[in-house]
Amino acid sequence: MTGSPSIHINTRIRENAQSLAGALEQHLLKSFAPDARKQLRLFSAGEAAELLGISPSFLRKLHFEERLPDVHTTAGGRRHYSAADVQVIRDVLEDGAKTRGTYRKGRRDGDKVQVLAFLNFKGGSGKTTSAIHAAQRFALKGYRVLAVDIDPQASLTSLFGFQPEFDFLQSGSIYDAIRYEDPLPFSQIIQRTYFNGLDLAPGGLILQEFEHETPQALRHNIQPPFYARMAAALQEVEADYDIIIFDCPPQLGYLTMSALCASTGVMITVVPNMLDVASMSQFLQMSADLLDVVSEAGARMEFDFLRFLINRYEPADGPQQQVVAFLRQLFGREVMTSPMLKSTAISDAGLTQQTVYEVERTAFHRATYDRAVDSLNAVNDEIETLLQMAWGR
Ligand SMILES: Nc1ncnc2c1ncn2[C@@H]1O[C@H](COP(=O)(O)OP(=O)(O)O)[C@@H](O)[C@H]1O
Ligand SMILES: [Mg+2]
Repeated sequence: MTGSPSIHINTRIRENAQSLAGALEQHLLKSFAPDARKQLRLFSAGEAAELLGISPSFLRKLHFEERLPDVHTTAGGRRHYSAADVQVIRDVLEDGAKTRGTYRKGRRDGDKVQVLAFLNFKGGSGKTTSAIHAAQRFALKGYRVLAVDIDPQASLTSLFGFQPEFDFLQSGSIYDAIRYEDPLPFSQIIQRTYFNGLDLAPGGLILQEFEHETPQALRHNIQPPFYARMAAALQEVEADYDIIIFDCPPQLGYLTMSALCASTGVMITVVPNMLDVASMSQFLQMSADLLDVVSEAGARMEFDFLRFLINRYEPADGPQQQVVAFLRQLFGREVMTSPMLKSTAISDAGLTQQTVYEVERTAFHRATYDRAVDSLNAVNDEIETLLQMAWGR
């Protein structure tokens, strides 16, 4: 036979993998030099006031009355606030407030920690994007937040400036806290981030091991069983947080089930087109079947809420509007009132491993940026209301 010589596919793939790994390492070394750790930008007075829930003029008045510590001020006299500054001001406001919890809205004695899972077995439905924006928004609003990356692809971990393919390859990921053999205390795998009040439990490829090891562990009746391991591991640290957020992998494996059994609220992200809705229908059916099995086995299955979060919404798209109307008719108030708009600000920020809350407004067309921020704030503030309701407020 003539034609091109045959190739050994496994050899070729290995060669490709090696050259890609080498190139990636070079790229990462360049873009993340040791001194180039991620840092959070400063916020304008308008942004700080919005995060504090006060008017910009009231914020100015507080400075004028010298009730606040100095913040970074430009030559032109404009004030800029770090996330830590915002938190200090929040404490000043709270200490002077008549009713407790006016400005510091986290949990109080007797409130249980709120644990939110962002879920769907469709990749690209916006689990990671919505999870990280929620985590950052809550941290900026003064809640103590822990983000837990249980996706072996670890994209949430990358968004925090870590390199999961190098940093947590052998150890340091959430796998260490839930594995069957000699699990580590949860506190040992927690990473502080450059976001004030936001910690990370990193993910990584090694999380796949949990899927492989669970059948064996079940046969040997290792305790606690897979569905209770995440909740058990979290117990050690949950007093330190108001809100814990899981970014789930795009599959309904043991990891996802374990996270679900530790959760108090579930957000199912859905892109409003018929193919995605059809795949979500299968997902819901499978989830229900699996949850039946684990709850018969003794798993706790009580949630404060479940919501569908519409993502990549384009208000001018007729067919999308029909799908959204269909979902609202079907699920009623379980569909979030605010959708996440499809926005180039969200996808472009993602290209440089950033969120819309991190990028500078000047990096985008102003209207594009504002539209994205408004949409994300509306979604996250609606989730915040659900959390507050779960705390009975
Ligand atoms: N509302 C949106 N508008 C534009 N791009 C989005 C939006 N939501 C997500 N994306 C982009 O789509 C891709 C997949 O989103 P991601 O959150 O990683 O999905 P998942 O975690 O469900 O796999 C990312 O590149 C992200 O930046
Ligand atoms: Mg993801």
